[in-house]
Amino acid sequence: MTGLPDNSHDNPSDVSDRLYFRQLLSGKDFAADDQLAAQMVNFVYAIGDRQTGECVLVDPAYAPGELVDIVEADGMTVGGVLATHYHPDHVGGSMMGLSIAGISALLERVDCPIHVQADESEWVAKTTAVGDDHLVSHSSGDVLTVGAVDITLLHTPGHTPGSQCFLVDGRLVAGDTLFLDGCGRTDLPGSNPAQMVESLRTLATVPGDTILYPGHRYSPAASAPMEHVVAENWVFQGL
Ligand SMILES: [Fe+2]
Repeated sequence: MTGLPDNSHDNPSDVSDRLYFRQLLSGKDFAADDQLAAQMVNFVYAIGDRQTGECVLVDPAYAPGELVDIVEADGMTVGGVLATHYHPDHVGGSMMGLSIAGISALLERVDCPIHVQADESEWVAKTTAVGDDHLVSHSSGDVLTVGAVDITLLHTPGHTPGSQCFLVDGRLVAGDTLFLDGCGRTDLPGSNPAQMVESLRTLATVPGDTILYPGHRYSPAASAPMEHVVAENWVFQGL
């Protein structure tokens, strides 16, 4: 990953009017009586086009059916999934001896593609038992278009080999690559601290008014402008 893709052809004002963007907290906004979901404070995102009614879910775990219900109550239809990385609290699987529902259960309700970074594909397959018939591998810079909404996929390895972030209309959906305070762990299978440093350097170059939407609520605030995060988050010190 050498830099940010050029999205200068976008017309942000048109897209902003149509953008459907919801941030949903596990154990609160969905999976409300799931203790693990409440403890893990994962964020799921729904991103779509209000005009066409299509949306994608980012990291639907714990209660995928409920997440589908939530967006359908908004008049939206799930047409795909974006996976930030393979960990079970993001895509489903076994963790700490507990089974977390995720993309495999979602596919029983909605038959749709699961968009993963190419380097994460085998890890997602191993964790979720979802195969190549549903996994779509992407390169950094790929753009997924949902209605008229362009979502740019950005490979940000470090937490895992194929971690990816999503840029959409001035928002950065960062999974476990970057939190408001700190970044994802780099001592887990597939982690790479040196790659994390490079990924953070890349993220530091997004426009300062881009709003960071992390994969967990590890801070009182649920989102923050990148200029504040880059100035205040210790992971950017000395980069
Ligand atoms: Fe993770």
